[in-house]
Amino acid sequence: MKACAEAPCKAIITGEHFVVHGAWALAAAVERKVRVEASEAEELAIESEGHRPDDSSEKRLAPVAKVVTKISEELRFNPRVLIRITSHVPEGSGLGSSAATMVAVASALAKLKGMELATSEVARYAMAGETAIHGKASGIDVNICATGGVIMYKMGEEAKKVRFAGSRRFLIVQSGTKRSTRTLIDRVSQMKVKYPGLFAGLADSASFISELAATRLVNGDMQELGRLLTYSHAVLSTVGASTPTLDKLVDLLLALGCYGAKLTGAGGGGSVFAIPREGSTDALITELKSRGYESFQTNVPTGGVRSWLG
Ligand code: MEV
Repeated sequence: MKACAEAPCKAIITGEHFVVHGAWALAAAVERKVRVEASEAEELAIESEGHRPDDSSEKRLAPVAKVVTKISEELRFNPRVLIRITSHVPEGSGLGSSAATMVAVASALAKLKGMELATSEVARYAMAGETAIHGKASGIDVNICATGGVIMYKMGEEAKKVRFAGSRRFLIVQSGTKRSTRTLIDRVSQMKVKYPGLFAGLADSASFISELAATRLVNGDMQELGRLLTYSHAVLSTVGASTPTLDKLVDLLLALGCYGAKLTGAGGGGSVFAIPREGSTDALITELKSRGYESFQTNVPTGGVRSWLG
């Protein structure tokens, strides 16, 4: 018997980094998925993209083993399983490939063992792997990958689903530079140590911006939402999360007519999240390609993790 699970990746709309320090943030699930298959085995084995672990992949896959251990210890079943991971989310792209993986692993494993977990429980188990990779993660990534849709999130509180009629279209542009979330979290946290008063003010304003952004999103006021995104990028740049390449990419997207654009996730490379003008997306994707940038459109909201027996 085999159990499968698929989890979407994510984009942070507003509030990244400040969410690690207690602010509210707004996040959306993105239509790129990680798929995990789990089946009974002689011992715990983890394969990624069909390759058997070698020395380097063993280190990379160790956080997955942490999720398996945590869930099997708490729910009291044997951890002798084969986990197969197939990802359509580029690693280090700021789109939460690791969070989607951990969420899909927890979900597939529970399904294999005949247990139904609430999404908040899936996120809690997935967090064992996320913390091993990123250090001081807030939990927003695993929560959005588990829940899907759009959420408002604050550490220590249940994620709040943001509901609206219809769907909204966004553009994800890859900067082409990979980066480590852990390094970026540490870099921005140093700003808090250096300028505690200023940082506290910025974190409060990130909460306020996230609330405003959620209202604009619900009302479909994409132009105003765009302004909030561009403003958020400037703030993230000020606290050290951006790079000259990301700043240039945001400027380019604005020059090409987008309502707004910002880095998404940890920054330092990864992806930019933009709001294209109505009807301009296809031409924009072609133009970006001619300048060496890969991009794709995502429809928000998209569903969360799902699992089934196969
Ligand atoms: C990463 O997607 C978002 C960060 O705020 C880290 C976190 O919240 O865990 C940079």
